This record gives sequence, structure tokens and C-alpha cells, in this order.
Amino acid sequence: MSDLNIYKARRAEVAKRMEDNSILILSSSKLVSRNNDTTFPFRQDSNFFYLTGFQEPDSVLIVHSDGRSILFCREKNPDLEKWDGFMWGPAAAQENFGFDEAHDINLIDEILPNLIRGHKTLNALIGKNLNFDAKITNWINSANSMERHQGNIDLKNFSNQLGSMRLLKDETEISLIRKSCEIAAVSHKAVMQKAKVGMSEYDLETMYMNEFKVNGSREASYTPIIAGGARACILHYIDNDQQIEDGELVLVDAGCEYGMYASDITRTYPINGQFTGEQKAVYDVVLEAHNAACHAAKVGNPCTDPQRISEKSLSQGLKDIGLLDGSLDEILDKKLFREFYYHKIGHWMGLDVHDDCPYAVDGKEILFQENMVMTIEPGVYVNDTANVDDRWKGIGIRIENDILITSDGYENLTAKVPVETEEIEQLMRE
Ligand code: GLY
Ligand code: MN
Ligand code: MN
Repeated sequence: MSDLNIYKARRAEVAKRMEDNSILILSSSKLVSRNNDTTFPFRQDSNFFYLTGFQEPDSVLIVHSDGRSILFCREKNPDLEKWDGFMWGPAAAQENFGFDEAHDINLIDEILPNLIRGHKTLNALIGKNLNFDAKITNWINSANSMERHQGNIDLKNFSNQLGSMRLLKDETEISLIRKSCEIAAVSHKAVMQKAKVGMSEYDLETMYMNEFKVNGSREASYTPIIAGGARACILHYIDNDQQIEDGELVLVDAGCEYGMYASDITRTYPINGQFTGEQKAVYDVVLEAHNAACHAAKVGNPCTDPQRISEKSLSQGLKDIGLLDGSLDEILDKKLFREFYYHKIGHWMGLDVHDDCPYAVDGKEILFQENMVMTIEPGVYVNDTANVDDRWKGIGIRIENDILITSDGYENLTAKVPVETEEIEQLMRE
């Protein structure tokens, strides 16, 4: 299918999922201010991109339950294009992106209330963009006031419906995710091989970003986490500005974006190339949990099975190496493992690194189906406050891979990065 037809087919599917006489409204991203008059690079909203392929800010998509779709976007402006670059304008956008109508975004307050008046339902992704939510409320109020003798328009959240569509990746999406994972994996391997004592977190960050770019990805899919020593226990550490000391592990959580699709890999390795006994003991507990969780991710199983399996495996492992006391049942019942494992096993991945897709709908857990993509990322973090021998303190280890659910199990899309301690030590010696 051509790109144009992929997006048209997705809009047709959205129309099918809506009740009769209803409309979906979605906003693009805006340019985001960095400071004063500079902006961050533009990144299109993932849901908007998924249904349009249109890469401009200040745009709005309307999909009608009868299948028609309408775009509002910036009017063409040759003077502005000299500063900000090419813009399609409504006429060319309509033709090139397969919309039934397109209008100047400046006319939206005039056109929208007329367009939605008399409809039963307006679907939107409520709560994602408060400014846009406020505009929707105003448009609904205007439309309702035009139709005093009919029922008011219901505003409904379409998040679960659109998220459920995005859960099942099509062929094009899988090939882009595969490429994103390939670039990230090759990059992790290359930097792991070059890492050595004397380097700082910032040095490594530079090397990862460089490898992503050299291998074909312009952007990271999130700010990388490069955490030496005990900083690995801070889950969202992104300062990346400290020296990594000889004998310390470094936890690197870094992924890239390719064709708008994310990858997300974590590896933890000793900066001097040699795991200590304690580091290896914890590492192997995490690796065992990782492998067990991957095997739980198969068609028909609830999507939270890897979570339950990882809790059980980590609890047993932590008990075996003496970091947790008590019976396995007690550790699980009282959730004692949470002292060391305080995040979830993973998340859906696609256009967003944490893909905007549900884990349960109407109180029922999502079951794994072929062509879903999830990360598996157990971790153990021994903070200073833990009631354990000092020799364990400051060890923070996470192992993260991206898996595609297949008809008979899963495929590890990021398998190219060494994961066994011996493999890592070998690579770092080369
Ligand atoms: N990189 C963010 C995460 O692993 O969820
Ligand atoms: Mn992740
Ligand atoms: Mn990650």
C-alpha cells in the first residue's frame, strides 16, 4: 500500500469504529518554545501522524463516521516559507494526503461549530492537550446553541479505540520498528565495545547519539539515561554529567527514532569490562527474570503475565543471593521485592516509546496478539537505604529488549546487543 493509502485506510477504520452520526477531532502538535523565541525541533503528535502522515504544526483532523475526512492546516505563505520552510497549504494537502476537504486553520472557529452541529457524538483524545480541550468545549457550546431543539452533542474519549488500533502493528510499522531496533542495537554494541575507564556519562551519551546518527537515525526516541554507579537506581536520571569510576557499572537506557518509530534498549555493564562477584550475581537474577518474562509474552496470554512472572523470578533470585528473606509466597504476598524492583516490566512501543495504547479495556486485560510490540525490562536497584550488606549497595541493573509477538512466541528485535555477562566482557576486551 502506498503511504497515502495506509493513512486513508486507518481513517476508514476509525470511521467504522465510531457510532453513526459522530465525528472524531484530533489536533497536531504545536511548535514548543525552548526559551524566548527559540523552539525545540518539531515532532508531530503520534496519533495525528498515525491517521494523516501530515508533518505540520497547527493542523486539525476531522474524521466523520460516514468515512469523510477533513484537514485544517496553515494557508500557504511564500513570505513565511522563506523563514520557516515549505508548507503544503489546504489545496495541495487535500490532494496529496487524500482528504475530502481541507481549509485554512484560521477559519476553524467559523467552520467547526457548523460542521459538528446536529451530531450525536464528538470523539476526541480528552486530557492530552488542555488548550485543545478548551477549544473543543467552545465549539460544542457554539454548535449546541445553533441546535436548541435537538439533543446536545456528547463529548467522548476515543483514546481506547485509537490506542487499540495502534496496538496491532501493520507490515509497514513493523519494518520501521525493526529498523529502529536494528540501529539502536548496532549503536549499543559499538559503544559498549569502545567504553573504558576514564569516560564520563556525558562522553558515553555523545557516543550513543553519534552512533544513532551515523547508523541512520537523526533523533533519540527519549532523552537517554546514562547512569554510572548508584545513579542507576534513579529511574529517570538524565543529568548524564558525572564521571564513571573504575569498578562501577554504567546503566545505559537509550533508543532511537526511525521513520517516527521508537526503539528502547537498556544494557548495564562494568566500565572496566569486568563484573565483580556481586554485580554478576545481581545481573544474573535480572537476566533470568528477563528471559522468563519474554517467554510469558505469547498469543492469548494476558499482557500483564510478564509482570507477574518477573516478580516471581526476581523474588526467587533475590532470595537465592540473600537480598530478600522469607518464603517466596511471603515475598510475593507482601510485595517485598518492591524494595529492589519498583517499576513495571515493560510497555507497548511504536510511534511513542511508551506507546499510547491500553493495557486493559472495560476492566479486561488486553491479551497478546500477533504483531504487538512490547519492551521487557526488569531491574534490580540496591539503594543505600536497603537493609543489606554494604557490598551490594549502589548496584543498579536493568536489562531491556524490544519484542514482537509472533504466531508462535516472540521475536527479540534488539537481540544483537550482547546480554550475557561473559558476552559483554568478551566484547569489551576486543
Ligand atoms: N526508556 C524509558 C523506558 O525504558 O521505559
Ligand atoms: Mn522501556
Ligand atoms: Mn528504556
